[in-house]
Amino acid sequence: MTINEFLEALDQLATAAETAFQSATDDEAVEAARIEFMGAKKGKLRAVQQGLGKVDKADKPAAGKGFNQTKQRVEAAFQAATDRLASAGAEEAAAATDPTIPGIQPAIGHLHPLTQTILEISDIMGRLGFSIAEGPEIEDRFHNFEALNIPLEHPARDPLDNFYLSAAKKSVSAEEGWLLRSQTSTVQIRVMENTPPPVRIVSLGRVYRPDTPDKTHVPMFHQIEGLMIDTDVTMADLKSVLRLFGMAYFEDDVHIRFRPSFFPFTEPSVEMDMTWGDGWVEMGGAGMVDPNVLRAVGYDPEEVTGFAFGLGIERMCARRHGITDIREFYKNDVRFLHQFR
Ligand code: FA5
Repeated sequence: MTINEFLEALDQLATAAETAFQSATDDEAVEAARIEFMGAKKGKLRAVQQGLGKVDKADKPAAGKGFNQTKQRVEAAFQAATDRLASAGAEEAAAATDPTIPGIQPAIGHLHPLTQTILEISDIMGRLGFSIAEGPEIEDRFHNFEALNIPLEHPARDPLDNFYLSAAKKSVSAEEGWLLRSQTSTVQIRVMENTPPPVRIVSLGRVYRPDTPDKTHVPMFHQIEGLMIDTDVTMADLKSVLRLFGMAYFEDDVHIRFRPSFFPFTEPSVEMDMTWGDGWVEMGGAGMVDPNVLRAVGYDPEEVTGFAFGLGIERMCARRHGITDIREFYKNDVRFLHQFR
């Protein structure tokens, strides 16, 4: 073989190796080409290397140089193929783990919308200077009725309007015994019994009435009771507090309307409406604490005056979120509840 023929063969080998490595589309094809051209025992480079011995002595330097160049071309082609497949693999892996795809959200619990409302209202009233008071849900008749100026013969005490608890003693009279409180106004009494004026509290909690459930009634619901006793407290203070509260809770320029009403424990008494859209919505009752109530807890009505209000929390929460039926709060349908996450 002449030197030229030898160099020609080397060039063909390098070109064949480059073609093989360039057309390899996966790791197996690259490995097959590597073995074919660069294999230590039977590789084509190895075979050519062995042929170097047969080259004439004078041609040896040129042949050796040509061989080294060919080896470098084959190695470079192998390296290029390896790099090409590695970066393609990385791209594929990156595409397989697209970080912009939304993940699978674990189902994390959250507070019930009414509990959220209670916390929010407590917070607003706290900022208005009212502290939180609590009272029992199982109440005696003195605190649910008498002290609130609701005497024995009053229709509000009717068994059809209250959840009286059957007592162990069969012969419990109408003055004794327990019931599930029908309003949070009981807490007014409990606070005033234990606190000298001035008083500025709210109490939020469950109350119970045997009302037939409908869009605006459930037999167990929540009220917020407010009570402020001090010297010179007036209806203007009541209206201002309710308006500030309404504006904070509804995040709107809420207006307050009083309509004459009657509650045994306030005089005068009003039904309180708040603006909603183009109309008015009844939120609860309110009034100036009746002097009889002040006397029942040992306050002097000549010294102090005060206002009280009681609002329905379900109805407030419903109005704020555009819920048209408060029974939704008690169905425990997570599709409804998860809207309040
Ligand atoms: C009272 O309960 C008075 N204690 C309010 C009060 C407090 C007046 C302090 C004066 C001074 P009333 O029965 O109207 O009032 O109830 C107040 C609010 O509770 C209602 O406006 C309504 O928002 C809500 N409410 C009443 N019954 C139900 C019910 N069955 N389901 C849901 N909410 C109710």
